[in-house]
Amino acid sequence: MKVPFLDIKVQYASIQDEIAVALQQVLDSTAFAGGPFVERFEKNFASFCQCEFAVGVGSGTTALWMALLGMGVSEGDEVITTPNTFIATAEAISFCGAKPVFVDVDEQTYNMHPDLLEGAITPKTKAIIPVHLFGQMADMDRIMEIAQARGLFVIEDACQAHGAEYKGRRAGSIGDAGCFSFYPGKNLGAYGEAGAIVTNNAELAERMRMFRDHGQGKKYYHSLVGWNARMDGFQAAVLSVKLKYLPAWNDARRQNAQLYNDLLAGMDSVITPMEADYAKHVYHVYAIRSQNRNALIGTLAEKDIFCGIHYPVPIHLQEAYKFLDYRKGSFPIAEKCAEQLVSLPMFAELSQEQAERVSHEIRCFLKVVV
Ligand SMILES: Cc1ncc(COP(=O)(O)O)c(C=O)c1O
Repeated sequence: MKVPFLDIKVQYASIQDEIAVALQQVLDSTAFAGGPFVERFEKNFASFCQCEFAVGVGSGTTALWMALLGMGVSEGDEVITTPNTFIATAEAISFCGAKPVFVDVDEQTYNMHPDLLEGAITPKTKAIIPVHLFGQMADMDRIMEIAQARGLFVIEDACQAHGAEYKGRRAGSIGDAGCFSFYPGKNLGAYGEAGAIVTNNAELAERMRMFRDHGQGKKYYHSLVGWNARMDGFQAAVLSVKLKYLPAWNDARRQNAQLYNDLLAGMDSVITPMEADYAKHVYHVYAIRSQNRNALIGTLAEKDIFCGIHYPVPIHLQEAYKFLDYRKGSFPIAEKCAEQLVSLPMFAELSQEQAERVSHEIRCFLKVVV
């Protein structure tokens, strides 16, 4: 039995007919760029996120960029985030002309360590981007307290955290804005590229709407220098169909995570993910830690079990960010994560049999090497 890292086909098969109807409606109305399908999805997604507004854009990277632009982040500013994220978080900061500044993460949750935040704030700091890594939210109360005391914006990078909760509050609803990716493999994935920003700030929502549409409030009247960052109608139609199923898909991921936790329990050489007291984790990624990570991945692949690494090189050690002058040792926990984390197969439709097989092979491997 093959166990893929992710299986999008099986989910598509379960909603194929509904998707076909939704896509046909877009074709019939020719609402391809922006338009009513995007507006409907924005309304429903905002409400899902317990927010007033959502702005649909072309990707999660663009969502982060538009949020930063909407807050006026620009040349000479600094924005604090974590180094163990997908590079898009830092790229969005760079594309505003600002400088990414990193703080290390908590060893239990792999999210921004609030104790380290104050030390990274300078007079140039304009915003903080906590990343809700793998589907678990960062410790938002502490981050918001520090940000509010210093007058800083907070943008939640919720690109991996659709439907995740912090003390009952949904990802994206706590900061000034929350950014989502609908890349096909996400818990809520489009059938192409898409993203969105959610916020409760009407003025910010309006600015981001303008930035994503060439800075125009009225067609061909441009009050800002903007960009074409719109969501397309097909993606919005697909996302509207899929949003209804997201709570059930997230529950299935949580059940699969519990199954893995039980099956992998009691091994000193494996650290399973920790769900913080405050959190509802939605397990976009189920990552364990092992000192023999690379050998483990190789052995599992030989047995047709496919894993991932999120991420093999932390951003401060990436070639592209050499100019920031960080070095090995700058962020020891993020570096440990890069060396030890392995993401196991995880998707809503993963069967019990598949999870058992993965766990069994991990146990066999560890008996050999320990
Ligand atoms: C944490 C994080 N931020 C940003 C992004 C960027 O999203 P997109 O690929 O839709 O541009 C991703 C996507 O993988 C992500 O995981």
